[in-house]
Amino acid sequence: MNTPWMVAGVAIALSVTALASCSREAAGTASMTSGMASSAATVQASTAAAGTAAPGESTVPKRRMEAFTPPPDSTIPDDKFGAMVREGRDIFTNTRKYAGPYVGNGLNCENCHLDAGRRANSAPMWAAYVRYPRYRPKNGKVNTFAERLQGCFRFSMNGKAPPADSEVIKALTTYSYWLASGAPTGRNLEGYGYPKQGFEPPEPPDYTRGRTVYADHCALCHGEDGQGQKVEGEYVFPPLWGPESFNWGAGMGNINNAAAFIKANMPLSRGGTLSDQDAWDAAMFMDAHERPQDPRFAGNVAATRKQYHDSKWSLYGKEVNGHLLGSGATAPKPRAAGAPGQG
Ligand code: HEC
Ligand code: HEC
Repeated sequence: MNTPWMVAGVAIALSVTALASCSREAAGTASMTSGMASSAATVQASTAAAGTAAPGESTVPKRRMEAFTPPPDSTIPDDKFGAMVREGRDIFTNTRKYAGPYVGNGLNCENCHLDAGRRANSAPMWAAYVRYPRYRPKNGKVNTFAERLQGCFRFSMNGKAPPADSEVIKALTTYSYWLASGAPTGRNLEGYGYPKQGFEPPEPPDYTRGRTVYADHCALCHGEDGQGQKVEGEYVFPPLWGPESFNWGAGMGNINNAAAFIKANMPLSRGGTLSDQDAWDAAMFMDAHERPQDPRFAGNVAATRKQYHDSKWSLYGKEVNGHLLGSGATAPKPRAAGAPGQG
Protein backbone atom coordinates (compact mmCIF):
# COMPACT_ATOMS: atom_id res chain seq x y z
CA MET A 1 0.00 0.00 0.00
CA ASN A 2 1.26 3.46 -0.90
CA THR A 3 0.73 5.66 2.13
CA PRO A 4 1.49 9.37 1.82
CA TRP A 5 4.36 8.72 4.21
CA MET A 6 5.94 6.27 1.79
CA VAL A 7 5.47 8.65 -1.13
CA ALA A 8 7.12 11.39 0.90
CA GLY A 9 9.92 8.97 1.68
CA VAL A 10 10.55 8.40 -2.02
CA ALA A 11 10.49 12.15 -2.66
CA ILE A 12 13.05 12.68 0.06
CA ALA A 13 15.24 9.93 -1.35
CA LEU A 14 15.07 11.47 -4.81
CA SER A 15 15.83 14.99 -3.65
CA VAL A 16 18.76 13.64 -1.65
CA THR A 17 19.93 11.99 -4.86
CA ALA A 18 19.72 15.28 -6.72
CA LEU A 19 21.46 17.03 -3.88
CA ALA A 20 24.23 14.48 -3.82
CA SER A 21 24.88 14.71 -7.53
CA CYS A 22 25.02 18.53 -7.35
CA SER A 23 27.33 18.45 -4.41
CA ARG A 24 29.46 15.84 -6.12
CA GLU A 25 29.99 18.26 -8.97
CA ALA A 26 30.52 21.14 -6.61
CA ALA A 27 32.98 19.09 -4.62
CA GLY A 28 34.84 18.26 -7.83
CA THR A 29 35.18 21.94 -8.69
CA ALA A 30 36.23 22.73 -5.17
CA SER A 31 38.96 20.12 -5.25
CA MET A 32 40.32 21.56 -8.50
CA THR A 33 40.77 24.97 -6.92
CA SER A 34 41.54 24.01 -3.35
CA GLY A 35 45.22 23.54 -4.14
CA MET A 36 45.44 27.15 -5.21
CA ALA A 37 43.36 28.40 -2.33
CA SER A 38 45.40 26.54 0.23
CA SER A 39 48.70 27.75 -1.17
CA ALA A 40 47.41 31.33 -0.98
CA ALA A 41 46.44 30.67 2.63
CA THR A 42 49.86 29.23 3.36
CA VAL A 43 51.55 32.31 1.94
CA GLN A 44 49.36 34.60 4.03
CA ALA A 45 49.91 32.58 7.15
CA SER A 46 53.67 32.53 6.69
CA THR A 47 53.78 36.27 6.00
CA ALA A 48 51.84 36.89 9.17
CA ALA A 49 54.12 34.56 11.10
CA ALA A 50 57.21 36.32 9.76
CA GLY A 51 55.85 39.68 10.92
CA THR A 52 55.07 38.60 14.47
CA ALA A 53 57.90 36.20 15.25
CA ALA A 54 59.48 36.81 18.64
CA PRO A 55 63.26 37.39 18.70
CA GLY A 56 65.16 34.14 18.43
CA GLU A 57 62.15 32.29 17.05
CA SER A 58 62.53 30.78 13.62
CA THR A 59 60.79 32.73 10.90
CA VAL A 60 61.14 29.94 8.39
CA PRO A 61 57.58 29.04 7.42
CA LYS A 62 56.61 25.41 7.84
CA ARG A 63 56.43 24.21 4.29
CA ARG A 64 53.16 22.60 3.34
CA MET A 65 53.48 19.97 0.68
CA GLU A 66 51.19 20.65 -2.24
CA ALA A 67 48.97 17.85 -3.50
CA PHE A 68 49.74 16.83 -7.05
CA THR A 69 47.02 17.86 -9.51
CA PRO A 70 46.25 15.33 -12.25
CA PRO A 71 45.54 16.70 -15.74
CA PRO A 72 41.92 17.59 -16.62
CA ASP A 73 39.89 15.16 -18.74
CA SER A 74 39.76 17.77 -21.52
CA THR A 75 43.45 17.12 -22.21
CA ILE A 76 43.05 13.39 -22.90
CA PRO A 77 44.59 13.07 -26.36
CA ASP A 78 42.48 12.13 -29.38
CA ASP A 79 44.46 9.08 -30.37
CA LYS A 80 44.72 5.38 -29.56
CA PHE A 81 46.34 6.12 -26.21
CA GLY A 82 43.56 8.58 -25.34
CA ALA A 83 40.92 6.02 -26.26
CA MET A 84 42.40 3.60 -23.76
CA VAL A 85 42.58 6.31 -21.10
CA ARG A 86 38.87 6.98 -21.62
CA GLU A 87 38.08 3.28 -21.52
CA GLY A 88 39.91 2.99 -18.20
CA ARG A 89 38.08 5.98 -16.79
CA ASP A 90 34.73 4.46 -17.80
CA ILE A 91 35.61 1.14 -16.19
CA PHE A 92 36.68 2.98 -13.05
CA THR A 93 33.48 5.02 -12.73
CA ASN A 94 31.07 2.36 -14.00
CA THR A 95 32.79 -0.89 -13.17
CA ARG A 96 29.60 -2.91 -13.05
CA LYS A 97 28.73 -1.95 -16.60
CA TYR A 98 32.15 -2.14 -18.26
CA ALA A 99 33.86 -4.90 -16.25
CA GLY A 100 30.73 -6.80 -15.18
CA PRO A 101 32.15 -10.34 -15.31
CA TYR A 102 34.74 -9.42 -12.67
CA VAL A 103 32.35 -7.69 -10.26
CA GLY A 104 30.40 -9.59 -7.61
CA ASN A 105 28.63 -6.80 -5.73
CA GLY A 106 26.86 -3.45 -6.15
CA LEU A 107 29.99 -1.28 -6.10
CA ASN A 108 32.11 0.65 -8.58
CA CYS A 109 35.77 1.60 -8.08
CA GLU A 110 34.80 5.25 -7.77
CA ASN A 111 32.66 4.62 -4.67
CA CYS A 112 35.82 4.35 -2.56
CA HIS A 113 38.21 6.31 -4.79
CA LEU A 114 36.20 9.49 -5.27
CA ASP A 115 36.02 11.83 -8.26
CA ALA A 116 36.98 9.08 -10.70
CA GLY A 117 40.11 8.31 -8.68
CA ARG A 118 41.27 11.93 -8.54
CA ARG A 119 40.42 12.98 -4.99
CA ALA A 120 43.38 13.29 -2.61
CA ASN A 121 42.95 11.23 0.57
CA SER A 122 40.61 8.74 -1.08
CA ALA A 123 43.49 6.60 -2.40
CA PRO A 124 43.73 8.48 -5.72
CA MET A 125 45.02 6.61 -8.75
CA TRP A 126 47.69 9.22 -9.63
CA ALA A 127 49.36 8.64 -6.27
CA ALA A 128 48.82 4.88 -6.46
CA TYR A 129 50.39 4.55 -9.88
CA VAL A 130 53.78 5.81 -8.70
CA ARG A 131 53.71 3.62 -5.55
CA TYR A 132 54.12 0.32 -7.40
CA PRO A 133 55.79 -2.12 -7.57
CA ARG A 134 55.84 -2.33 -3.80
CA TYR A 135 55.88 -5.01 -1.11
CA ARG A 136 52.49 -5.77 0.49
CA PRO A 137 52.27 -7.66 3.77
CA LYS A 138 48.76 -8.75 2.73
CA ASN A 139 50.12 -11.25 0.23
CA GLY A 140 53.77 -11.25 1.27
CA LYS A 141 55.35 -10.28 -2.03
CA VAL A 142 56.24 -7.37 -4.25
CA ASN A 143 53.08 -6.45 -6.13
CA THR A 144 52.92 -4.93 -9.57
CA PHE A 145 50.32 -2.24 -10.17
CA ALA A 146 48.25 -4.83 -12.07
CA GLU A 147 48.27 -7.13 -9.04
CA ARG A 148 47.12 -4.26 -6.85
CA LEU A 149 44.20 -3.60 -9.20
CA GLN A 150 43.38 -7.31 -9.15
CA GLY A 151 43.28 -7.22 -5.34
CA CYS A 152 40.53 -4.60 -5.31
CA PHE A 153 38.49 -6.69 -7.77
CA ARG A 154 38.78 -9.78 -5.63
CA PHE A 155 38.02 -8.19 -2.24
CA SER A 156 36.50 -4.70 -2.54
CA MET A 157 34.40 -5.67 -5.56
CA ASN A 158 33.80 -9.21 -4.23
CA GLY A 159 34.52 -10.45 -7.72
CA LYS A 160 37.38 -12.15 -9.46
CA ALA A 161 40.70 -10.86 -10.70
CA PRO A 162 40.83 -9.99 -14.39
CA PRO A 163 43.93 -11.54 -15.97
CA ALA A 164 46.94 -9.20 -15.95
CA ASP A 165 46.93 -8.98 -19.76
CA SER A 166 43.15 -8.42 -20.03
CA GLU A 167 41.65 -5.32 -21.61
CA VAL A 168 40.23 -4.30 -18.20
CA ILE A 169 43.61 -4.25 -16.44
CA LYS A 170 45.32 -2.63 -19.42
CA ALA A 171 42.75 0.16 -19.59
CA LEU A 172 42.71 0.81 -15.81
CA THR A 173 46.52 0.91 -15.83
CA THR A 174 46.56 3.32 -18.78
CA TYR A 175 44.05 5.62 -17.08
CA SER A 176 46.10 5.66 -13.85
CA TYR A 177 49.34 6.22 -15.78
CA TRP A 178 47.76 9.18 -17.53
CA LEU A 179 46.37 10.65 -14.27
CA ALA A 180 49.95 10.50 -12.94
CA SER A 181 51.34 12.48 -15.92
CA GLY A 182 54.26 14.51 -14.60
CA ALA A 183 53.98 13.17 -11.04
CA PRO A 184 57.26 12.75 -9.17
CA THR A 185 58.20 9.13 -8.53
CA GLY A 186 60.14 7.40 -5.77
CA ARG A 187 58.18 8.80 -2.85
CA ASN A 188 54.62 8.86 -1.56
CA LEU A 189 52.72 11.86 -2.85
CA GLU A 190 50.76 14.07 -0.48
CA GLY A 191 47.18 12.76 -0.45
CA TYR A 192 48.04 9.11 -1.27
CA GLY A 193 45.93 6.32 0.22
CA TYR A 194 43.53 7.07 3.04
CA PRO A 195 45.17 9.38 5.60
CA LYS A 196 45.68 6.85 8.38
CA GLN A 197 49.25 7.69 9.39
CA GLY A 198 49.09 8.87 13.00
CA PHE A 199 45.28 8.71 12.96
CA GLU A 200 44.43 6.94 16.21
CA PRO A 201 41.11 6.66 18.04
CA PRO A 202 40.99 9.02 21.05
CA GLU A 203 39.03 6.29 22.86
CA PRO A 204 38.57 2.69 21.71
CA PRO A 205 35.92 2.63 18.95
CA ASP A 206 32.48 1.77 20.28
CA TYR A 207 29.57 0.00 18.57
CA THR A 208 26.77 1.73 20.48
CA ARG A 209 28.15 5.21 19.91
CA GLY A 210 28.77 4.24 16.28
CA ARG A 211 25.12 3.32 15.84
CA THR A 212 24.16 6.86 16.89
CA VAL A 213 26.71 8.48 14.58
CA TYR A 214 25.40 6.28 11.78
CA ALA A 215 21.78 7.23 12.39
CA ASP A 216 22.65 10.94 12.56
CA HIS A 217 25.14 11.27 9.71
CA CYS A 218 24.97 8.30 7.35
CA ALA A 219 21.55 6.62 7.26
CA LEU A 220 19.97 9.38 5.17
CA CYS A 221 22.00 8.27 2.16
CA HIS A 222 23.19 4.74 2.89
CA GLY A 223 19.86 3.64 4.42
CA GLU A 224 18.87 2.70 7.96
CA ASP A 225 19.93 -0.86 7.16
CA GLY A 226 23.22 0.04 5.42
CA GLN A 227 21.99 -1.40 2.14
CA GLY A 228 22.35 1.82 0.15
CA GLN A 229 19.70 3.20 -2.19
CA LYS A 230 18.92 2.42 -5.80
CA VAL A 231 17.29 4.47 -8.52
CA GLU A 232 16.21 2.53 -11.61
CA GLY A 233 18.10 -0.56 -10.53
CA GLU A 234 21.48 1.09 -9.96
CA TYR A 235 22.89 2.23 -6.65
CA VAL A 236 23.05 5.98 -6.15
CA PHE A 237 24.20 5.43 -2.58
CA PRO A 238 26.37 2.34 -2.25
CA PRO A 239 25.73 -0.40 0.34
CA LEU A 240 28.05 -0.43 3.37
CA TRP A 241 27.39 -4.01 4.43
CA GLY A 242 25.36 -7.06 3.41
CA PRO A 243 25.60 -9.21 0.27
CA GLU A 244 26.09 -6.32 -2.18
CA SER A 245 28.96 -4.66 -0.33
CA PHE A 246 32.72 -5.32 -0.11
CA ASN A 247 33.71 -8.71 1.33
CA TRP A 248 35.44 -9.63 4.58
CA GLY A 249 38.84 -9.66 2.93
CA ALA A 250 38.63 -6.04 1.72
CA GLY A 251 40.75 -3.20 3.07
CA MET A 252 37.62 -1.22 3.97
CA GLY A 253 36.77 -4.03 6.41
CA ASN A 254 39.70 -2.93 8.59
CA ILE A 255 38.47 -0.18 10.86
CA ASN A 256 41.63 1.89 10.51
CA ASN A 257 41.14 2.15 6.73
CA ALA A 258 37.41 2.75 7.14
CA ALA A 259 37.88 5.41 9.83
CA ALA A 260 40.45 7.30 7.75
CA PHE A 261 38.25 7.14 4.64
CA ILE A 262 35.17 8.27 6.57
CA LYS A 263 36.99 11.08 8.37
CA ALA A 264 38.37 12.49 5.10
CA ASN A 265 35.42 11.86 2.78
CA MET A 266 32.11 11.29 4.56
CA PRO A 267 29.40 12.48 4.82
CA LEU A 268 29.77 13.01 1.07
CA SER A 269 30.98 16.53 0.23
CA ARG A 270 31.36 17.28 3.96
CA GLY A 271 34.56 15.35 4.56
CA GLY A 272 36.54 16.44 7.62
CA THR A 273 33.47 17.56 9.56
CA LEU A 274 33.09 14.52 11.84
CA SER A 275 35.17 14.40 15.00
CA ASP A 276 37.93 11.77 15.01
CA GLN A 277 35.99 9.76 17.59
CA ASP A 278 32.79 9.85 15.53
CA ALA A 279 34.67 8.66 12.44
CA TRP A 280 36.19 5.72 14.37
CA ASP A 281 32.87 4.82 15.98
CA ALA A 282 31.04 4.92 12.63
CA ALA A 283 33.79 2.76 11.08
CA MET A 284 33.50 0.25 13.90
CA PHE A 285 29.72 0.12 13.56
CA MET A 286 29.91 -0.36 9.78
CA ASP A 287 32.59 -3.05 10.01
CA ALA A 288 30.69 -4.92 12.73
CA HIS A 289 28.09 -6.08 10.20
CA GLU A 290 28.01 -9.19 8.05
CA ARG A 291 29.12 -9.06 4.44
CA PRO A 292 30.27 -11.60 1.83
CA GLN A 293 32.72 -14.19 3.11
CA ASP A 294 36.47 -13.71 2.78
CA PRO A 295 37.35 -15.51 -0.47
CA ARG A 296 40.43 -16.91 1.35
CA PHE A 297 38.07 -18.67 3.84
CA ALA A 298 40.11 -21.38 5.53
CA GLY A 299 37.28 -23.78 6.49
CA ASN A 300 36.12 -22.04 9.66
CA VAL A 301 35.97 -18.53 11.07
CA ALA A 302 38.61 -19.06 13.78
CA ALA A 303 41.17 -20.46 11.33
CA THR A 304 40.44 -17.68 8.84
CA ARG A 305 40.86 -15.05 11.54
CA LYS A 306 44.16 -16.59 12.64
CA GLN A 307 45.53 -16.72 9.12
CA TYR A 308 44.25 -13.46 7.61
CA HIS A 309 42.69 -11.24 10.27
CA ASP A 310 45.12 -11.37 13.15
CA SER A 311 45.01 -7.60 13.62
CA LYS A 312 43.40 -5.25 16.09
CA TRP A 313 41.74 -3.49 13.15
CA SER A 314 39.76 -6.51 11.96
CA LEU A 315 36.56 -7.55 13.72
CA TYR A 316 36.28 -10.75 11.69
CA GLY A 317 36.00 -13.69 14.08
CA LYS A 318 35.22 -11.40 17.03
CA GLU A 319 31.96 -11.36 18.90
CA VAL A 320 30.22 -7.98 18.69
CA ASN A 321 26.71 -7.28 19.92
CA GLY A 322 26.25 -11.00 20.67
CA HIS A 323 27.18 -12.14 17.16
CA LEU A 324 30.34 -13.91 15.92
CA LEU A 325 31.36 -11.84 12.91
CA GLY A 326 32.07 -13.89 9.82
CA SER A 327 29.80 -16.75 10.92
CA GLY A 328 26.81 -15.28 9.08
CA ALA A 329 28.72 -14.15 6.03
CA THR A 330 27.06 -14.70 2.69
CA ALA A 331 28.68 -17.40 0.57
CA PRO A 332 31.49 -16.34 -1.74
CA LYS A 333 30.45 -15.92 -5.35
CA PRO A 334 31.41 -18.79 -7.60
CA ARG A 335 34.66 -18.06 -9.39
CA ALA A 336 35.35 -18.88 -13.02
CA ALA A 337 37.42 -22.03 -13.35
CA GLY A 338 41.12 -21.30 -13.44
CA ALA A 339 40.78 -17.68 -12.31
CA PRO A 340 43.70 -17.37 -9.92
CA GLY A 341 42.40 -14.52 -7.76
CA GLN A 342 45.14 -12.21 -6.64
CA GLY A 343 45.39 -10.20 -3.51
C1 HEC B 1 34.92 -0.82 -0.84
C2 HEC B 1 35.88 0.17 -1.17
C3 HEC B 1 36.77 -0.04 -2.39
C4 HEC B 1 36.41 -0.28 -3.69
C5 HEC B 1 35.02 -0.47 -4.23
C6 HEC B 1 37.63 -0.31 -4.46
N1 HEC B 1 38.69 -0.07 -3.64
FE1 HEC B 1 40.62 0.18 -4.23
N2 HEC B 1 41.18 0.42 -2.28
C7 HEC B 1 40.35 0.37 -1.19
C8 HEC B 1 41.12 0.47 0.02
C9 HEC B 1 40.58 0.41 1.43
C10 HEC B 1 42.46 0.61 -0.37
C11 HEC B 1 43.67 0.77 0.55
C12 HEC B 1 43.83 2.23 0.90
C13 HEC B 1 44.99 2.47 1.84
O1 HEC B 1 45.82 1.58 1.98
O2 HEC B 1 45.09 3.57 2.42
C14 HEC B 1 42.46 0.57 -1.83
C15 HEC B 1 43.61 0.68 -2.58
C16 HEC B 1 43.62 0.65 -3.98
C17 HEC B 1 44.82 0.82 -4.77
C18 HEC B 1 46.22 1.09 -4.20
C19 HEC B 1 46.34 2.50 -3.71
C20 HEC B 1 47.72 2.83 -3.21
O3 HEC B 1 48.03 4.03 -3.13
O4 HEC B 1 48.50 1.92 -2.91
C21 HEC B 1 44.45 0.72 -6.07
C22 HEC B 1 45.35 0.84 -7.27
C23 HEC B 1 43.02 0.48 -6.10
N3 HEC B 1 42.55 0.45 -4.80
C24 HEC B 1 42.27 0.30 -7.24
C25 HEC B 1 40.90 0.01 -7.24
C26 HEC B 1 40.16 -0.32 -8.43
C27 HEC B 1 40.71 -0.34 -9.84
C28 HEC B 1 38.89 -0.59 -8.03
C29 HEC B 1 37.74 -1.08 -8.88
C30 HEC B 1 37.99 -2.28 -9.66
C31 HEC B 1 38.84 -0.41 -6.59
N4 HEC B 1 40.07 -0.07 -6.15
C32 HEC B 1 37.70 -0.55 -5.82
C33 HEC B 1 38.97 0.29 -1.24
C34 HEC B 1 38.22 0.07 -2.38
C1 HEC C 1 24.88 12.82 1.26
C2 HEC C 1 24.89 11.39 1.15
C3 HEC C 1 25.89 10.61 1.98
C4 HEC C 1 26.07 10.65 3.33
C5 HEC C 1 25.30 11.46 4.35
C6 HEC C 1 27.11 9.67 3.62
N1 HEC C 1 27.53 9.08 2.47
FE1 HEC C 1 28.95 7.62 2.31
N2 HEC C 1 28.80 7.71 0.30
C7 HEC C 1 27.89 8.45 -0.42
C8 HEC C 1 28.11 8.25 -1.83
C9 HEC C 1 27.30 8.84 -2.97
C10 HEC C 1 29.21 7.37 -1.94
C11 HEC C 1 29.88 6.93 -3.22
C12 HEC C 1 30.78 8.05 -3.68
C13 HEC C 1 31.05 8.08 -5.17
O1 HEC C 1 30.77 7.10 -5.86
O2 HEC C 1 31.53 9.14 -5.64
C14 HEC C 1 29.60 7.03 -0.58
C15 HEC C 1 30.60 6.12 -0.26
C16 HEC C 1 30.83 5.62 1.00
C17 HEC C 1 31.70 4.51 1.31
C18 HEC C 1 32.50 3.68 0.32
C19 HEC C 1 31.63 2.80 -0.51
C20 HEC C 1 30.98 1.63 0.22
O3 HEC C 1 29.81 1.33 -0.07
O4 HEC C 1 31.61 1.01 1.09
C21 HEC C 1 31.68 4.35 2.67
C22 HEC C 1 32.43 3.31 3.47
C23 HEC C 1 30.80 5.36 3.20
N3 HEC C 1 30.28 6.12 2.16
C24 HEC C 1 30.50 5.53 4.55
C25 HEC C 1 29.72 6.56 5.05
C26 HEC C 1 29.54 6.81 6.45
C27 HEC C 1 30.09 5.95 7.58
C28 HEC C 1 28.75 7.92 6.56
C29 HEC C 1 28.33 8.64 7.81
C30 HEC C 1 29.41 9.14 8.64
C31 HEC C 1 28.41 8.34 5.21
N4 HEC C 1 29.03 7.49 4.32
C32 HEC C 1 27.57 9.39 4.89
C33 HEC C 1 26.94 9.28 0.12
C34 HEC C 1 26.82 9.62 1.44
